[in-house]
Amino acid sequence: MCGIIGYIGDKKASDILISGLSHLEYRGYDSSGVALMHSNNIDVYKAQGKLINLIEVLKTKQEICEKSNIGIGHIRWATHGLPTTTNAHPHTCNCKSLTLVHNGIIENYQELKEELIKTGCIFQSQTDTEVAAHLIAYEYGKTNNLLKAMQNAVKKIKGAFAFCAIHKNEPNKIVVAKRNAPLIIGVGENENFVASDIPAIIEYTKKAIYLSDYQVGVVQKNNIEIYDDLGNLIPNKVEYLPFEAVAISKMGYKHFMLKEIHEQSDVVRNVLSGKLISPLENIKLDECKLSQEKIKNITRVQIIACGTSLHAGMVGKYIIEKFAQIPVDVEPSSEYIYRDTIADENTLVIGISQSGETADTITAIKQVKEQNSHIAIITNRTDSTMARLADSLLPISAGIEVSVAATKSYMAQLISLYLLAIYLMENKNIQAHKEEVINLKQELIQLPNKLESLLENTDDIRRIAKKYSSYKDFIFIARGINFPSALEGALKLKEISYINATGYGAGELKHGPIAMLDENMPVLAILNTGIVYDKVLSNCEEARARQAKLIGVTNYIAPKDKDLFDDLIMIPSVSDLMSPAMNIVVLQLLAYYIAEYLGKDVDQPRNLAKSVTVE
Ligand code: M6R
Repeated sequence: MCGIIGYIGDKKASDILISGLSHLEYRGYDSSGVALMHSNNIDVYKAQGKLINLIEVLKTKQEICEKSNIGIGHIRWATHGLPTTTNAHPHTCNCKSLTLVHNGIIENYQELKEELIKTGCIFQSQTDTEVAAHLIAYEYGKTNNLLKAMQNAVKKIKGAFAFCAIHKNEPNKIVVAKRNAPLIIGVGENENFVASDIPAIIEYTKKAIYLSDYQVGVVQKNNIEIYDDLGNLIPNKVEYLPFEAVAISKMGYKHFMLKEIHEQSDVVRNVLSGKLISPLENIKLDECKLSQEKIKNITRVQIIACGTSLHAGMVGKYIIEKFAQIPVDVEPSSEYIYRDTIADENTLVIGISQSGETADTITAIKQVKEQNSHIAIITNRTDSTMARLADSLLPISAGIEVSVAATKSYMAQLISLYLLAIYLMENKNIQAHKEEVINLKQELIQLPNKLESLLENTDDIRRIAKKYSSYKDFIFIARGINFPSALEGALKLKEISYINATGYGAGELKHGPIAMLDENMPVLAILNTGIVYDKVLSNCEEARARQAKLIGVTNYIAPKDKDLFDDLIMIPSVSDLMSPAMNIVVLQLLAYYIAEYLGKDVDQPRNLAKSVTVE
């Protein structure tokens, strides 16, 4: 949530800041700003709305831009105060000497603000961030040293933050600090960078220092110093960044979302690689650090996640309970943290998160870690806060996902959960369902090819998307292992097209939602051959009897039932167990084409952000 970039070197800072912010736009995009240092002056430029507005502002300030080789920038997702130019970062102190950008939330900002007002500070914005600018400036007044001022200020701040500050009396440095919000320092030749996420700097350097909580750093053109929480200088730990610059290009697709949907067959191949060798061999999962004895002793599994990751977890429940025969609870992290949860050393807790930075999930994981449960983290970011909390770190290796709507990361999470479920079963030596598991492994191996054949011809989905794009409401129904697919399909549609879509277990329709049905409420039903096929078909009849338009997504339909549906989207033949991985691609594409047809901002839908770092 929000993005930070900083640059110090010989190049034109504004170009690097804008390029960095453009790669962070997926984190927030309601306003943006930069502060440019030049000959002991700092100029701040901000704009409301998308980054393009800031670019337009800077076009009129080229004289300043040419002179500045040091600067900081920010792209905002509003938490405190409206998304206006005044509330946009960077924020400055009253004498304009100090300027800073911030990610996170300062919890005690009211208290600090009142104290600062007593010292004469005048506030311009409604943000919590401006408090930090005044506080660090106040501390600077006592020390005349930006590093010391930052160190003193962060001791007074409660909450989460990544700060990046410059001061006109110390024009050769950027001072940074962090707690519970990511910040990296990119290491270059005669230049260095600061960023809240890798995409902002990957085209300039592949080397970085990950700042840890409570550390403060001083970044200069040819030097980086990191200080621990006690103020001691500590050795720099330089790591190699896991992404290639090419991963953040659209590669000819109109949107990142479409590109990412089409990458899913390769994503499945990646996740399976080295783990599922053949249907007759056991799953290899070296990342799982549970001994066989520990696995046998697991009495319950708790899956904690948010949004799309939560839906992946719900599919995980079906397969873990079925194959590993362990009871599984799945809960949104935001609910998990506000009750007395029961977990112990025989509980396996699985945290699922694409970003690894979702605040609610981090809090839930930290909370349950105290109960000595084994923590497995399924994430796309091995460099994330959550990854660092893991006892078993299960990377999904989906490659960077830029579009705010999660697609390929969901697929990779699903496949990781299938592997984990089978791994637990094999280590418990459970014989039931053995044949079914051999078939499932065969299907997992075949899945990438089937996904490719589904993605080869999407004309039907496009046609149906256009036909239904003017409806204002949708209901998605399914049962069994595809119930989470209905929830996820509805979430995708809502997120990027702003059409009201709700997912229900098909059996629940008649317990209330059926009251909503008429010719203006299309019902999308997922029905795969398997134990719930006939039941979902009956639920479709109920909807049809209320004049609802019916769209079916299925791998099979008896000729006699075809007329029940207004439109049918056929998927390649697949078992019920494997079908969530196929059905979801149809639903992702349907949401994509509806949003695209309506001219929505598919990759950056309103009000959302790629990583939700506030609770
Ligand atoms: O990074 P995470 O997987 O923890 O994020 C969780 C949700 O915020 C995320 O899945 C969100 O629902 C996406 N916008 C879904 O498209």
